[in-house]
Amino acid sequence: MQQKKRILTGDRPTGQLHLGHYVGTLKDRVRLQDEYDCFFIIADLQVLTDHLENYSSIESNVFEVMCDYLGVGLKLENTFFVQSQVPELAELTMYFSFLVTLPRLQRNPTVKDEAKTYGVTNISYGFLGYPISQAADILAFKADLIPVGQDQLPHIEQTREIVRSFNRVFGKEVFALPEPLVGEVPVLVGTDGTNKMSKSLDNFVAFAHSPEETERRILNMVTDRKRAYRKDPGHPDECFAFKYWSVFASTDTLLVRQECETAARGCKECKAQLTGKLNERLAEIRERRQCYVSQPDLVWDILATGTKRARAVATETLEEVREAIRISFPRLRVSIKGGQ
Ligand code: TRP
Repeated sequence: MQQKKRILTGDRPTGQLHLGHYVGTLKDRVRLQDEYDCFFIIADLQVLTDHLENYSSIESNVFEVMCDYLGVGLKLENTFFVQSQVPELAELTMYFSFLVTLPRLQRNPTVKDEAKTYGVTNISYGFLGYPISQAADILAFKADLIPVGQDQLPHIEQTREIVRSFNRVFGKEVFALPEPLVGEVPVLVGTDGTNKMSKSLDNFVAFAHSPEETERRILNMVTDRKRAYRKDPGHPDECFAFKYWSVFASTDTLLVRQECETAARGCKECKAQLTGKLNERLAEIRERRQCYVSQPDLVWDILATGTKRARAVATETLEEVREAIRISFPRLRVSIKGGQ
């Protein structure tokens, strides 16, 4: 039997995941999980890039993200793990760091954007270099497919470059080229109608939000900027609420479009209806999520099992990597083991 191909992807635990994550990548993960051997990394170390001084809630954030994963329907059989608990990833990052030039890192558009968004002017070595650490996350598990949001594409490209240079420099085909996969809606605009949905801009709807909170957020959403009065015909193609209809309740879009264009429906009632649809769709996710939130021991056990499994795979890759670099020193390793 041919072995399943492998997926590796994950998220920074900066808080609860939201609808932007869902349409950008989570939905694909759920769809593909039976077909692939899936590894999901909760990248806690990556949070140090721009939240260095605000790290106190990292543990609860890891927990929240894990509950989001299980809530959206990722199954327990997948491998879920915490980045910092797999030290082989740090080691691999070190080796890869010699293969990437400084100007190459400085050109990464996502790193540039993030530095700007968070107002970081004196960017650290680790921040600039985190795409290398992300390449290690992917390659330690020799993943074939990386389902991610569009903003992550530069990092996948960087990973592919590292594969090429590693194999060339060390003269051995240790790694294969991973492929990215971007979701059906690469960028979901948030409720402000301007920016990408994001927690830090508070324009998001999270799985953890209650139906009432969802309603409040959707009702405040910016809609059709060209439609000044209720009696004016609307412009669905320029309306953010309509975009949400097409993503989250696509079977209704024909009717909504028609009623909007003829001014048969107003924006307020349209958003109220949309809230109902969204809450309907989120009900199952919320229920499942809540079920895990109330069983923290179970959630941490799932992560412990996954982290152990992840370490086993990463350890094997690292053996191969050290051999390729010619730093495996079998004689020294024997003496270290003997000393334990
Ligand atoms: N950078 C990703 C994010 O911001 C998180 C991440 C870390 C990741 N390592 C990864 C994603 C490896 C895909 C593969 O959400």
